[in-house]
Amino acid sequence: MHTILVTGAGGYIGTTLVPLLLEQGYRVRVIDRFFFGGDLLEDHPALEVVREDCRRLAPEHFDGIDAVIDLVAISNDPSGEEFQTATWEINHAARVRCAELAKAGGAQRYILPSSCSIYGFQPPELRADEATATNPLTTYAKANERAEQGVLPLADEDFCVIVLRQATIFGFSPRMRFDLAINGMTFGAWKEGRLPLMRDGDQWRSMVHVRDAAEAQIFMLTAESDRINGEIFNVGSDGNNYQIGRLGQRVADRVPGDVEIAWYGDPDHRSYRVCFDKIEALGYRATRTAEDGVDEICAALENGSTDRTIKTITLDWYRALRDWQQVVRDTELDGAMLDIRG
Ligand SMILES: NC(=O)c1ccc[n+]([C@@H]2O[C@H](COP(=O)([O-])OP(=O)(O)OC[C@H]3O[C@@H](n4cnc5c(N)ncnc54)[C@H](O)[C@@H]3O)[C@@H](O)[C@H]2O)c1
Repeated sequence: MHTILVTGAGGYIGTTLVPLLLEQGYRVRVIDRFFFGGDLLEDHPALEVVREDCRRLAPEHFDGIDAVIDLVAISNDPSGEEFQTATWEINHAARVRCAELAKAGGAQRYILPSSCSIYGFQPPELRADEATATNPLTTYAKANERAEQGVLPLADEDFCVIVLRQATIFGFSPRMRFDLAINGMTFGAWKEGRLPLMRDGDQWRSMVHVRDAAEAQIFMLTAESDRINGEIFNVGSDGNNYQIGRLGQRVADRVPGDVEIAWYGDPDHRSYRVCFDKIEALGYRATRTAEDGVDEICAALENGSTDRTIKTITLDWYRALRDWQQVVRDTELDGAMLDIRG
């Protein structure tokens, strides 16, 4: 594997993954609309940047590509509900088409980073493994599941297809997201001494550090095809299966200063704990703890390299882009604003 195509590379996972790939000597072509800014990936001689919509992928995007990591998505439940058509087009249809184009273009491997959210609600005594019946509750989770179902049948002896069901991710990344559980808790606790916690706290959720998630994707680039082809793997670790109330207390204990719990929302209907034995049997380990994430986010907040802005809340940012586009359309004349001539 020499040249890797990464879609959605300007996002939370991608801006952590791409520097790791480059560090390890891969050549990387990235394709993204860069909704969150085009300045989050540093220039590198082995990095090629293509600004394009993944719904318009073409055969030439796959020229010389050995493997694809298909991160692109509308990436959470609230955004998936508000932008349903785009979510189905991007998270499902565009990713299945990407896998088809990759195969036709001669790539040998295709990795779909999916989500443990497709387990939806599971009884608390169960640790969901890859054979557990799924229960996707949201448009986002349903589109991920359809993408899995669309790409897995493409696997054959020349084309290795792997689905990674990632736990909810946490930790610092250049495209920061404070709409993820541990990150949002850490910000509230650090900024105001109030840690936001979704009711009722008994719900189970699995977490994984963003660097561990990126390392799982890189691991799959070289893992023996016979052991992974056509397979689904949960990505995370048993130590990061949490009931949300207890997780909130751990985060509160770790953030410097006094922190109180601020409950919000109606009781959450999603609850699942996940089994990671299958990926661990390959030799992969997710090693970072919630505290590791809390520490690095607090450090980044302290030194000013991150902050909670609308750009770090995925739904708020997509809404803002939609609303600004309307304002521009209503106001511009012949493509110009204050600079019009003649
Ligand atoms: N972050 C998590 O907790 C988590 C957990 C499980 C699975 N995942 C999955 O991992 C993937 C990446 O998540 P993330 O947190 O990095 O998301 P993100 O929102 O930070 O990044 C998504 C990227 O895709 C780009 N994009 C969106 N639509 C596009 C389009 N039509 N064409 C081109 N680019 C487009 C955006 O500009 C952005 O850079 C997603 O598939 C998500 O479902 C994430």
